[in-house]
Amino acid sequence: MYEDRIRYAALRGKITSAAAAAQLVRDGMIVGMSGFTRAGDAKAVPLEIARRAREENEPLRITLMTGASLGHDTDRLLTEAGALARRLPFQVDTTLRRAINRGDVMFVDQHLSETVELLRANRLGKLDLAIIEAAAITETGGIVPTTSVGNSASFAILAERVIVEINLAQPAALEGLHDIWIPERRPQRDPLPIVGPHDRIGAASIEIPIDKIAAIVITNTPDSASTVLPADHDTALIAGHLIEFFQHEVSRGRLPKQLPPLQAGIGTIANAVLSGFAASPFEALTIYSEVLQDSTFDLLDSGKAMFASGASITLSAQRQEKVFSEIERYRDRLVLRPQEVSNHPEVIRRLGLIAINTALEADIYGNVNSTHVGGTHMMNGIGGSGDFARNAAYAVFATKSVAKDGRISSIVPMVPHCDHNEHDVDIVVTERGLANLTGLAPRERAMSVIQNCAHPLYRDLLRDYYRDAAALGGHTPHRLDQAFSFHTRFAATGSMLP
Ligand code: COA
Repeated sequence: MYEDRIRYAALRGKITSAAAAAQLVRDGMIVGMSGFTRAGDAKAVPLEIARRAREENEPLRITLMTGASLGHDTDRLLTEAGALARRLPFQVDTTLRRAINRGDVMFVDQHLSETVELLRANRLGKLDLAIIEAAAITETGGIVPTTSVGNSASFAILAERVIVEINLAQPAALEGLHDIWIPERRPQRDPLPIVGPHDRIGAASIEIPIDKIAAIVITNTPDSASTVLPADHDTALIAGHLIEFFQHEVSRGRLPKQLPPLQAGIGTIANAVLSGFAASPFEALTIYSEVLQDSTFDLLDSGKAMFASGASITLSAQRQEKVFSEIERYRDRLVLRPQEVSNHPEVIRRLGLIAINTALEADIYGNVNSTHVGGTHMMNGIGGSGDFARNAAYAVFATKSVAKDGRISSIVPMVPHCDHNEHDVDIVVTERGLANLTGLAPRERAMSVIQNCAHPLYRDLLRDYYRDAAALGGHTPHRLDQAFSFHTRFAATGSMLP
């Protein structure tokens, strides 16, 4: 049984039910699970952990680490069952988000490249158990991941015991797509030898001592489809501003004609903006990113992009069916890597990436809040946006100029929570226009952001704020009594408008 999926014959004896495998989980354990932006997540054992936490009288609360967000409502079910004590490094689930904001679950919002680095250095405790989805186990016992690598390889290497979920719904042809490279412990570490998005530097599967595999569970459930919305008028305008800007950079000789590799963040806006490059004059694009969304396949299919490197493939339902049924077609144009490699500062700096991520809001000086609604309430997490923004050649933050039908301005006097500070942000772009902040002093940045990015509804309010602040002096002028006036007004009246 399952000869082609579990080719190391002795391991077939480890096949068991999800319920039996979930018995390996104990209260207080630190558990690492596969899964990155809904792709390649463990699908059966987590549900059994939730069931146990709900039904058994004994407490069962764990620290859960993943690559990024999970599909199949796993975070919701674990939260509702009270099974999550701590969660890191990223999530997108509404129920978990509420529990985090109530203070019921301790959420550690972390740069996605850093989680396993901290684990490896024993700074996050000892990983008790890894639960990893796989397409196959090879003749030598190598674990072949599915649609994401994320943190799976290091979780399997660092955990005391490993549960493997072999998912028959994931194409066996995924084998060969992955490039597993794990850095040595610091400080004895060689350079990361990637000099182009297509470079393969590691193994095709995750190698661990066979006796660590404690259980194998067979599943047959596809990944949850991505929930991103299609491009709209505003996102098309944002893409247009960026394409025009990069054409200008090419014409000035600052960038090569085919542009450096592109990275685009999660969510509707970044996906739509990257799709916009399909109608651009650029050719032979490459992608060195984290999540490969529908937009990446738009570019590969239209011949605009030659190659894409990522840590996961997260697609809409329609696209999922098409791409995974003909994954062979992409074999020589795709690679999936551990997220500490896809997001590695060394590679991002070396390749001179164009990194396009999304802001909830930006302030007039170019500081960006990507995570905290109203400055206090967690949305999703910083994800990989900080890994990319700090080290990219062009760090772009895109947002629509207003949210909630104009009641929120995405350009504010001062961000009440800062994920990406003015030193890391090169470009702020909204559907209104683009502010190129490179080489500008704060007073120049304020003029550019207000003029180019703010919605007309809020432009005069921002101008007034800046004028009064500048009258008080300072390198980065602020009126501290008014800096959060947009936010306090929204809290009081439901609108940032007076
Ligand atoms: N204040 C409050 N809410 C805001 C807001 C603001 N300033 N700006 C946007 N929103 C709301 C939107 O109204 C929308 O709400 P809804 O879900 O109720 O409709 C929601 O935030 C999402 O905004 P949307 O405009 O659809 O953007 P998105 O899907 O592209 O997501 C982020 C934007 C910032 C939430 C998302 O990109 C994110 O989590 N980023 C951080 C992580 C990251 O960048 N990772 C990428 C690294 S590879």
